[in-house]
Amino acid sequence: MAHLVDVSNDPGGSSVWSRLRVEAATVAAGEPILASMLHAVILNHDRLEDALSYLLASKVGGENMNVMQVREICDQALREDPTIITKVEADAMAVLERDPACKGFLQTFLYYKGFLALQAQRISHQLWHDERQTLALYMQSRVSELFAIDIHPATRIGSGIMMDHATGIVIGETAQVGDDVSIMQDVTLGGTGSHRGDRHPKIMDGVLVGAGAKVLGNITVGHHARIAACSVVLKDVPPGCTVAGIPAKPVGECCPEPAKSMNHMLEED
Ligand SMILES: CC(C)(COP(=O)(O)OP(=O)(O)OC[C@H]1O[C@@H](n2cnc3c(N)ncnc32)[C@H](O)[C@@H]1OP(=O)(O)O)[C@@H](O)C(=O)NCCC(=O)NCCS
Repeated sequence: MAHLVDVSNDPGGSSVWSRLRVEAATVAAGEPILASMLHAVILNHDRLEDALSYLLASKVGGENMNVMQVREICDQALREDPTIITKVEADAMAVLERDPACKGFLQTFLYYKGFLALQAQRISHQLWHDERQTLALYMQSRVSELFAIDIHPATRIGSGIMMDHATGIVIGETAQVGDDVSIMQDVTLGGTGSHRGDRHPKIMDGVLVGAGAKVLGNITVGHHARIAACSVVLKDVPPGCTVAGIPAKPVGECCPEPAKSMNHMLEED
């Protein structure tokens, strides 16, 4: 009987890549039906970059786009911007630390579509800045078809991001997402429909955006603020503040030491 390797009590230590390989090898030995997939996606590769480009290409490639070509595109983006892979590692750590259902890197890497869609956006963001906008939009469109997650390639996104469950997440072109942000399923970071140009929200570091929340317009959600599930946020949110409702209003006190007291951890479903 093969079990996931539980590294959730010790997320530090050796690198994400070496721990991912240990998890993959353990499961491959105990669950032979998964072994060839685990070898193809993880164990046959020497670096996290190579495994990631293989996995993304196998997902994003399709009838109209050769898988090998997509892989080359991913490889090139990862070469051009080495910070992408650092962000990938930070995202994997964020999921492990914040999602109580996550026991290791393997399940995130193979199955968490929020994680995969985010990494595809990191590639398409690089394409966007390489003046390959149409190709970047192809990637956005494929990821949207595959995962029901729609993030514009131009969006600037920090590291240590957890997109939990992730179905229905929509993030617009001029939105910005800082570091260490958690975004639940069915969240929109969108425009109000009445402005053009810079029209989307700016989400600062450490923010939690609850499931179903709609954050609309060129507004700022301050550091370590929390947005309650299903809120509609139309105005700036002060740092460390929790807002809820339609339209969203502050609930309770603003937090004096948000970095220490903010609870990013959600109860297990
Ligand atoms: C916003 C949130 C973090 C607040 O948590 P908290 O600090 O424990 O705050 P409380 O539960 O004490 O709520 C404070 C007030 O806000 C209200 N409130 C909380 N969440 C709300 C929501 N989504 N919509 C409207 N009001 C809400 C509470 O009723 C309470 O009002 P009261 O003081 O009049 O009784 C939490 O409610 C939330 O929405 N988390 C997101 C969870 C999520 O997305 N889960 C999906 C997992 S798949």
